[in-house]
Amino acid sequence: MPNLSTTYMGLSLRNPLVVASSGLTGSIDKIAQLEEKGVGAIVLKSLFEEQINGEVSYMINRDAQQNASPEADDYISDYIRENNVQQYLDLVRLAKSLVKIPIIASISCISDNGWMEFAHDLEKAGADALEINAFIVPTDRKISSADIEFRYLDILTEVRRVVKIPVAMKIGYNFTNLVGMVDKLSANGAAAVVMFNRFYEPDIDLETLEMTAASIYSSSADLRQSLRWTGIVSGKVPKINIAASTGIHDGEALVKQLLAGATVGQVCSTLYLNGFDQTDQILAYLKSFMVKWNFKQIADFRGRLSYSKLPNPVMYERAQFMKYFSGQGN
Ligand SMILES: Cc1cc2nc3c(=O)[nH]c(=O)nc-3n(C[C@H](O)[C@H](O)[C@H](O)COP(=O)(O)O)c2cc1C
Repeated sequence: MPNLSTTYMGLSLRNPLVVASSGLTGSIDKIAQLEEKGVGAIVLKSLFEEQINGEVSYMINRDAQQNASPEADDYISDYIRENNVQQYLDLVRLAKSLVKIPIIASISCISDNGWMEFAHDLEKAGADALEINAFIVPTDRKISSADIEFRYLDILTEVRRVVKIPVAMKIGYNFTNLVGMVDKLSANGAAAVVMFNRFYEPDIDLETLEMTAASIYSSSADLRQSLRWTGIVSGKVPKINIAASTGIHDGEALVKQLLAGATVGQVCSTLYLNGFDQTDQILAYLKSFMVKWNFKQIADFRGRLSYSKLPNPVMYERAQFMKYFSGQGN
């Protein structure tokens, strides 16, 4: 029987299958079900910076609100509607008391303003690690790429200042030099990088001429983008752990990511589309793959096909369809 256990950000996992942050990980019932299904760890649904700061503002102004004002009413109604922060901390505490697998809390943010105390509270509540889902949409033509990269690093530095638990940065792939960016994240203390987040994407409804959201779920073809970068980054920045995310829909995809050098694979869309039973297929395939190749443990094959292990890593570097330009496509 192969040994599937592994270490991610210093945490011991029974296997490298991690459930990604989403509505699937936002309630204790689902978290318990996922543990029962055998997954290695769970990243809780994100709490958003705005939600946290909304509540922080409320707390700061609590005394002032004795004198009722329209602003105070807003704060109170926000608080009653959301009550997010306390609920989230309760979820962390409950999850930690009921399940044994590591629980990774998640914060979605675009700045390092105002919410740092909450990161500290998450640690106190028992979170095993923290995943920072940072996405800055660059829409200002006067801001340089370096300025934006510094914002990611500032967020990481501030979080690392207030917590001792390991911190993972969940990023998108829109960096001019992704390897350089991950290297800086590693140098600034990120224990892991989650590559990649999947964002709401815009679409246009031609019947109504309105903006709509494209499908929120990935497809298995979306694996390729993250596979390329897992392979390259794991070879170039070996110190950082990689959680491959986007397009892992089955066991085959998880194994490919591990071969490319991922430490763990995170799954989300496939569980929405196929139900929690999909974890059975993923874990069964991983085991059967290891038996077939006589791999006793994950380390026997992790990174075997990463950029640094290949004598000629051209498949990771090739970006253009040269074959087609040189005649085949005519
Ligand atoms: C419905 C839905 C909700 C999500 N919510 C979050 C979230 O709260 N925080 C986060 O970091 N990522 C969130 N994600 C992104 C997923 O965690 C994951 O990174 C992304 O879907 C790519 O993985 P996949 O191809 O397995 O779906 C969400 C994705 C979906 C589809």
